Amino acid sequence: MLSIRPFRALWIALSLSSLGDWLSILALAVLAPGLTNGGGVAKSSAVGGVFVVTLLPALLLGPIAGALADRLDRRKTMIVGDVIRGLLFVSIPLFPNLTWIYVAKFAAGIASQFWNPAAAATMPNLVPREKLERANQLSLVTTYGTAPLAAGLFSILALVGSGLSMVLPVFRHTSNVNLALYFNAASYFVSALTVYFLRQISTRRERGEISVPSTAKAIWEGWRFIRRTPAISGLVVGMLGAFSAAGVVIGLGYSYVSQTLHGGSAGWGLIFAAIFVGMALGMAFGTRLFGGLSRRRLFGVTLTAAAIPLALIGLVPNLIMVTVFVVFLGVMSGIAYPLGFTIVGLEVDDDTRGRVFAFFQSTIQVILLAVIAAVPFLSAGFTKAIASTTGSGDVKIGNIVYASAGQNVVILLAALVVAFVGISSYRRMDDREGVPLAEDLLAALRGEEPPPVPDEDDAQVAAKSHGLFIAFEGGEGTGKTTQARLVSIWLREQGYDVVATHEPGATKIGMRLRALLLDTAHAGMSPRAEVLMYAADRAEHVASVIEPALNRGAVVITDRYIDSSLAYQGEGRGLRADGIARLNRWAANGRVPDLTVLLDMPPEEGLGRRARSGDRLESEPAEFHRRVRAGFLALAKAEPSRYLVIDATRSVEEITEEIKDRVRDILPDPIPSTAEAATGAFPAITDPPLPR
Ligand code: TMP
Repeated sequence: MLSIRPFRALWIALSLSSLGDWLSILALAVLAPGLTNGGGVAKSSAVGGVFVVTLLPALLLGPIAGALADRLDRRKTMIVGDVIRGLLFVSIPLFPNLTWIYVAKFAAGIASQFWNPAAAATMPNLVPREKLERANQLSLVTTYGTAPLAAGLFSILALVGSGLSMVLPVFRHTSNVNLALYFNAASYFVSALTVYFLRQISTRRERGEISVPSTAKAIWEGWRFIRRTPAISGLVVGMLGAFSAAGVVIGLGYSYVSQTLHGGSAGWGLIFAAIFVGMALGMAFGTRLFGGLSRRRLFGVTLTAAAIPLALIGLVPNLIMVTVFVVFLGVMSGIAYPLGFTIVGLEVDDDTRGRVFAFFQSTIQVILLAVIAAVPFLSAGFTKAIASTTGSGDVKIGNIVYASAGQNVVILLAALVVAFVGISSYRRMDDREGVPLAEDLLAALRGEEPPPVPDEDDAQVAAKSHGLFIAFEGGEGTGKTTQARLVSIWLREQGYDVVATHEPGATKIGMRLRALLLDTAHAGMSPRAEVLMYAADRAEHVASVIEPALNRGAVVITDRYIDSSLAYQGEGRGLRADGIARLNRWAANGRVPDLTVLLDMPPEEGLGRRARSGDRLESEPAEFHRRVRAGFLALAKAEPSRYLVIDATRSVEEITEEIKDRVRDILPDPIPSTAEAATGAFPAITDPPLPR
């Protein structure tokens, strides 16, 4: 990518200005608390303030700055933005007071809000279309990848600054972060120069209405959609929980490093670098290592696991140990963060995805801001409470001293929140219920296929409803349609809620599938396609007709069901029956009839009864239909208790009587007790007892 010269120039500008952005956050987080005269709370709030003014411009301007930037000359926007930011950062060491830091940082943030979209919009002018995605990835990597670099640089500059102030009298009264601020300003100026020489950036202005929803509207619209989708709501709970924890880490970071860990500015840079190193490791290796694990599970697991290093950070106040824990924390977020976005990308429709992303971005910013601003007060409150009971805000356990222990309390609380949302989002999103997590993890680590999800237990499904499910099966012209109708009428006369239905084609979708399946024009259709279409029809049928009816306690009588697929496609077409059975168990959500009435007769006789010309399956040769018959009989033989096999050559009345006899034995109480309880009314059934 970098061999494209104009892109390389833009990329350099982007790297420099991202480096400057990160460096400024680090430097100001150190400078700000030094400028207050207050105690611990004032100092932590001063740091919090830096983050608030960093995030605020995005929140206030984010939605419209992009649209506004589209109307301006991009090259000028970028140059002016860089120069303004450079000047602002030079001014900070010259006027070192807290208010000016906030004003300058805020103003620089506003400039960034214009700079960033201008740079992003420039990309398509500099690289060929097919490389655009790579280019965007690369600039994303640069935006975040410069953070650890900035952290390392900051630590070095801070040490050099301290050294200089000791050696040279000129630097005696300057803060050791000034050097970082000057460097930061310089990076913006160089970036401005780079853009100045980048002639390819279009100066074309795009006209058009600016209409961008406000942050509040983005949140509301996204939320309305998300609430309806359990998996996505699980994801949201997780992401927001994770970001509140991130807010705690950012908001407390500096004061924890300086007060409890005695790390100073260099230590702060170290911790900052550690989190990004961890994130990079997580992004690079996490999904590779656990590639076989379900994405949704991995998200919940990493989130929950992140609670462990977070809790340890609060429990072990030692700079080296904390750095290690922070790397682990970074690894977890490095896995979970892109996973979350991938899940939204893959599982949310095109037309709602924008809204969901907007929701994420807006809420994440609001949460980060709120938590960062609140956390110093929260931890100070806890420290005070501890001081009022024990006499000192510091807690000593054994050899370990927890200075201003309120901070540790807040970190532990954050760990608790992360564990809680991690588990809750795992539960909501789990797409492999029934497979123990340990098995999945082991398989993923060994690089094996994940173990299959067991089918829902048939007994479990049946227990869920109290209706009665009867299927009529048989070859062509066996009279099953007539019998199914007669039995339905009889049951209705007894006061039963009866749903008479059939396959294929009992639903809207089913009707279209039926037309496809039975059209003689489709002779020679691939047998597997045929199986899948019948199964699709069945899935729709079960979900929209059969299950709702059974759940309300109705008697469902279907003309054909899974056995038809096993007999026609299995025996008839010669496909393996176990595959068809498995597929159909899944399609039908494990629904098995309580009784299957099989009307059996030699196929020649049945086909002879048909007056009209045959459909695609009826037109199969006699040998096909003989195999189908054998298939049905074999199924009945394998499970005699669930089948009633009837000699269909007899008279219609005789057959109906035989079926009634068998159905009577399994009929439920005509009015299920739950229905009575639900309505509180007596059933309006006055019919005499069932005739024998
Ligand atoms: P019908 O004549 O009972 O309406 O049935 C339509 C045709 O579909 C019939 O020839 C049997 C066939 N069929 C299968 O091959 N597999 C199936 O799963 C089902 C339900 C029907």
